[in-house]
Order: sequence, then C-alpha cells, then structure tokens
Amino acid sequence: MLQYVSGHTVTSADDSDEYLDIINKALEETVRSAAPGTVPVYFLPFLNYIPAWAPGGKYKRNAAWVKSIVKEAAQRTYDLAESKIGEDKEEHAVIPALIKSSTAKGTLDLERHEIMMFGLAMYADVYAKAQEEIDRVTCNARLPTIDDRHALPYLECILKETYRVSSPAPLGVAHETSEDDEYRGYWIPKRTTVITNIWLMLHDAEAYPDPEVFCPDRFNGLYANQEDPRNIIFGFGRRICPGRRFADSGIWQAMANITATFDICKARDAMGNEITPPGTFTSGLVRFQCSITPRSKQAAELILNKLSEQA
Ligand code: HEM
Repeated sequence: MLQYVSGHTVTSADDSDEYLDIINKALEETVRSAAPGTVPVYFLPFLNYIPAWAPGGKYKRNAAWVKSIVKEAAQRTYDLAESKIGEDKEEHAVIPALIKSSTAKGTLDLERHEIMMFGLAMYADVYAKAQEEIDRVTCNARLPTIDDRHALPYLECILKETYRVSSPAPLGVAHETSEDDEYRGYWIPKRTTVITNIWLMLHDAEAYPDPEVFCPDRFNGLYANQEDPRNIIFGFGRRICPGRRFADSGIWQAMANITATFDICKARDAMGNEITPPGTFTSGLVRFQCSITPRSKQAAELILNKLSEQA
C-alpha cells in the first residue's frame, strides 16, 4: 500500500520501517479510541463540558494525543511522497503524482493480512485449490496481475470469506442522527449515536450458515449470489468508505501474489509436530506461528525480479 500511495518500498514488516511504524501506531490508536463505548462520555454526555485538564477530562487529553500522532503520520508520509517526485517509481505512486499535478492531499490506510494467512495456513485444501487456479492462468511463468482477477473466481471467494470472517472495522464508524427518525417501529431521536454492527451482519446464521466456519465455498458456484461482504464491511450510505476499491484491489493483489509464490502451512515444533494456531481474537487476531516458504526456485525468482524492479 505504501508503495502504491507514496512510492516507498517497505522491506521489512517489523518495526524497523519508520513509516510503517508511525502509520501502524496512528491506525491502532485511532481504532482503539474511536471504538464505540470505549470512553465514558458516550454514556455520560455532560463530560463533554469538562475541560481537558480537569478530572474526567482524560479522554480529551487522549484524543488530542491520538490526533497529534495521526497528524504526524500524515505529514511524514506526505513529506516522503514529496521527496519521491522525480524518481522513476514516482509515476506509479498516487500521492507523488497528485502532488505533482498540485491537485490534493490524500489519506493513507494499511491493511493487515493476518486473517488471510491464518485461513490459508489452517486450510491446506483451500490454499492448494487457489494455487492450482492461479497456476492454470499464469502457468507459473509470471506473477498474477489485476487483469487476471476475473479468471480467478475461487481466489475471489477466499477474499470474500476473509472479509466476512474478520472485517477490519467490525463496528464501522459511529454516526450521529441529524434529525428525529423512525426505524422498524423504533423511535430514534435527533443526536442519537448510531453504530452499525458489521460483525453481526456478517455472522448472521440465516445469511451465512455456520458463520464461525471459514468456508470460501459459501460464495462459489451455485452460491455465487450470496451477499458479498464488500457491500457491508466498507460501511453504508453517503459516508461509505471512499478507499474501498483501492483497498480491495490492493488486498487482492497481495493475496494473489502470495498464493502464487509461497507455500503457507502450519509451523512445526522441535519434534516435528504441527502447531495448530489457536485462532484467538482480542481486538484482532492474536499472533500465531506458521511456515511460509517459496513454492519453487522459479517462484523465488519471480519474487526477486519483482523486488529488483521496485528497488
Ligand atoms: C479493508 C480496508 C478498509 C475497510 C474495511 C474500511 C472500512 C471503512 C468503514 C467501515 C468506514 C466508515 C463508513 C461509514 O461511516 O459507514 C470507512 C470510512 C473511511 N475510509 Fe475506509 N476502509 C478501508 C480502507 C480504506 C482506505 C485504503 C482508505 C484510503 C485510501 C480509506 C479511507 C476512508 C475514509 C477517508 C473514510 C471516512 C469517510 C467519511 O466519513 O466520509 N479506507 N472505511
């Protein structure tokens, strides 16, 4: 995502990349503090009138701190993008191109692929089927591109199921009604906080039978018309996520490339026994072990070639 947005190549997924680090921090703190019900002012509106320095005003101090991190992340990535203008890679990156044409600033987001990795490590049959589908299209001679998307329906099912099982924003973004309203007999006064329970919609057993099971086939063949989780996970109405197509194609591309070139399976302990990840969630999936290796010498070469193109 950083590559597309700012023209910056991330070479390590740990905390050693300063841009990845600050963006992760901004995202984590925003999600943590914006989650509905996390601060007392949601239940005790009078706290809104307490100054930040007074007892009870801690949430305001925290909000100011989070805002400063978000601003810092935005400024530093903007400066980064600006510094890329004139480089060869710049023409492929959105923000340097936008700055160059002096049109606008942009926002950044970053997705995580843990859920997908988890699903793929846990379900060897699903992964093998996806690899077979990609191999048929690319003949192992090249990496899949976005133009191959229509030819890879099973991969699409895996992506839909990944979105469904764990949507990145399970409670969406809270809104406030601007006028009195009524919904299915419920009276909703003006200024009510409305929270969309995206997680529940995607785990509704009537819409998605056995909702706890990771099953890409629920979107396959005869079930191709099953409600697409993309109609839900990005929110609704006029405040629907404006980055949805960008996010979706970026995630698809990462998933297609990883599946084409790596074998992902359960890790093994010192005795050679498979370690089955517990699949425990808190605010996200708890870290787990798995084994990721290039599928073949040819696959490793494809990855190295791609990296050297980007370097
Ligand atoms: C899988 C990735 C993503 C998910 C699941 C997601 C989900 C959401 C959701 C649920 C909302 C709230 C919509 C509502 O109020 O009903 C939202 C808002 C927003 N998203 Fe995303 N988003 C993703 C990626 C992105 C990306 C990549 C960008 C920018 C490049 C982005 C930019 C925004 C912005 C600016 C808003 C606020 C829109 C507004 O309030 O008018 N999002 N997103």
